[in-house]
Amino acid sequence: MADNKLFYGDNLDILRKKIKDETIDLCYIDPPFNSKRNYNQIYNNIGNEDRAQAQAFMDTWTWDDLAIAGFSEILANDDGRFQSQLVALIQGLHKVLGEGPLLAYLISMALRVTEIQRVLKNEGSFYLHCDPTSSHYLKLVLDAVFCSQGGDFQNEVIWNYQTGGASKQRYARKHDVILFYTKSSKFTFNSDEIREPRTEKSLARAQNPAGARITLDDVDKLPTDVFQIPALNPMAIERLGYPTQKPEALLERIILASSNAGDVVLDAYCGCGTTVVVAQKLGRQWIGMDITYQSISLILRRLEKAFGAAVSNAVKTDGIPRDIKSAEALAHKKDDRLRKEFEKWAVLTYTNNRAIINEKKGADAGIDAVAYFMTGKNDNAKIIFQVKSGGVKRGDIATLRGDMGRENAALAILITLEEPSRPMVAEAKAAGQYRHETMGRNYDRISIVTVKEIVEGGKRLEIPMSLEVVKAAQRAAGPEQQMDLL
Ligand SMILES: C[S@@+](CC[C@H](N)C(=O)[O-])C[C@H]1O[C@@H](n2cnc3c(N)ncnc32)[C@H](O)[C@@H]1O
Repeated sequence: MADNKLFYGDNLDILRKKIKDETIDLCYIDPPFNSKRNYNQIYNNIGNEDRAQAQAFMDTWTWDDLAIAGFSEILANDDGRFQSQLVALIQGLHKVLGEGPLLAYLISMALRVTEIQRVLKNEGSFYLHCDPTSSHYLKLVLDAVFCSQGGDFQNEVIWNYQTGGASKQRYARKHDVILFYTKSSKFTFNSDEIREPRTEKSLARAQNPAGARITLDDVDKLPTDVFQIPALNPMAIERLGYPTQKPEALLERIILASSNAGDVVLDAYCGCGTTVVVAQKLGRQWIGMDITYQSISLILRRLEKAFGAAVSNAVKTDGIPRDIKSAEALAHKKDDRLRKEFEKWAVLTYTNNRAIINEKKGADAGIDAVAYFMTGKNDNAKIIFQVKSGGVKRGDIATLRGDMGRENAALAILITLEEPSRPMVAEAKAAGQYRHETMGRNYDRISIVTVKEIVEGGKRLEIPMSLEVVKAAQRAAGPEQQMDLL
């Protein structure tokens, strides 16, 4: 089986630079919906933290430099990437909608859907998950990209769920929209793979009028374009605390229907990795992409939990800093869509994805993350982290010492891009040592770790962490299936 790949970065760059024409069998995406809000990752309630959370991704759009650049690129169409229908549509929408958040969002989607259509195989399928906020505009974009090049609109799937409250102002909103397109009229659709068991009632209804028993093949019914699949409730076993996480059952239906074993499944906005985990479980090859390191980190943990380290270690990653130059590039990257990306990457990498990102403001704003380690059977102690991408000085150690006292932390770690000065190292040493009784060893209370040591020397936090930061998704496959996948 070919490699499974996880790309860290903006999917537009990745699609353009790294994914060849006609190489993907199925693409499902669940991009931001233009919901005008930002989403937080909620961590497990561990240690004494009160439901820690950190921003996962933003879904607020403005008519900014990215939108202006995208608009000019589509209109100029210098490389002939864009279909004339799409260029005309964007021109028209510019007239109708004006230069605002909605047009910015649609331009971002038009650029990416154009690449997705290109990378799909001729028999490939595309599912765009959205909601009624922008689904009607997105359909115009998809028609312009797909139908102008021999593709077909197949379905508007309604995913109906029951979670969320009732409304007295209007009908309660209980559905998402999934637009299903194919690149040509020849495509995979395994209807028998997705049959649903009948209820007693529908079984009785399915008896033919003469009362003859239905054949065994007819016992399960074919699903319609209304999917009745429960959304993840707060107690769901799959739940990882990732906002907008989709249920595995939804992806199972899509992947089973529109791909075969061994096919390549792409999710260009993969979040906490529902598509890739289900693709793995069903024996498909997969490619995932996400712009935030929190997602990448979460997916690697989720794969490890579900299939074991052999599977997660075999995933080919791309875009993650591997040397000091690329770490510096990440530290200096300016991207309004991301917040503290370098800090998050540094601390998650150093802790093997076990840290909780701290986004609290105010007194503890200096701390970038916390983690808990085991001190006894049921006890834990806290480590605080601060990440500095420049300008480290001796005073930072004194501040960290103060933070340790306030946070009641046993250990503190400063991760720095610059080399620390000698007085800094001396100041850290002066904080003394912490005796870990169960480990039978001492740790420096304050340690300084350089990014170079992390990326080039492979240095990682070496202390047994007892608690899982993110809830584990169910172990995904039975033993035989796992063997196949290894
Ligand atoms: C709605 S979530 C996807 C949730 C996912 N379906 C799941 O079940 O976990 C959208 C994801 O798209 C990512 N994203 C947003 N813009 C992106 C871009 N330009 N390139 C790559 N990923 C992006 C966000 O970081 C977020 O993780």
